[in-house]
Amino acid sequence: MKSVIIYGSRYGSSRRYAEQLSALTGVPAVSFEDDPPVSGVETPVYIGGLYAGGVLGLKKTFRSRAPEPGQRLIVATVGLADPLLEENVRNIRVSLRKQLSSAWLERAGVFHLRGAINYRLLSPGHRAVMALLYRSLRRTPVEKWSAEDRALADTYGKCADFFDFSALAPLVRALGLHGPA
Ligand SMILES: Cc1cc2nc3c(=O)[nH]c(=O)nc-3n(C[C@H](O)[C@H](O)[C@H](O)COP(=O)(O)O)c2cc1C
Repeated sequence: MKSVIIYGSRYGSSRRYAEQLSALTGVPAVSFEDDPPVSGVETPVYIGGLYAGGVLGLKKTFRSRAPEPGQRLIVATVGLADPLLEENVRNIRVSLRKQLSSAWLERAGVFHLRGAINYRLLSPGHRAVMALLYRSLRRTPVEKWSAEDRALADTYGKCADFFDFSALAPLVRALGLHGPA
């Protein structure tokens, strides 16, 4: 198989990106929870939500699989932090090194997309984590906040949606297929 789009999504942002990419390219999209095969797939694409810096399902999907000769990987993270800010991208890439072996990273094209959050839909556990983070942030002087901290503070308790389908164009190009103009 040439490609498959695997997504790790808790609240639906990464799934929406995966399904849109699938509609644009004809490549099937499937959740990591369905344990899709990676072996024999020329270019698996992984799209996953960021949770405390980690990409949901990424480690589980690739940890026990070494890349095959000629295999490439495309990874797209989906988070609230703005990927136009270098600091955010740097942090995400550091944490990717803890989730993917260097063999996979060496052959990976990495992209960053922006997702959404709706505090009304968060699980009690996630709401508690965010409340703790926000409380500790409020005890920290604003000048010391990272870009991620500012994104958390700006969206705390709200419904925020940074969804942008046009941000998929570089992924379509990386797949070597024709996408949106
Ligand atoms: C507990 C929790 C932790 C999060 N951690 C991060 C993070 O480290 N970086 C980030 O950019 N966004 C973070 N987010 C925001 C999610 O990445 C964002 O809501 C994303 O769209 C979720 O994707 P999904 O709906 O596909 O699961 C976090 C959200 C929650 C609820």
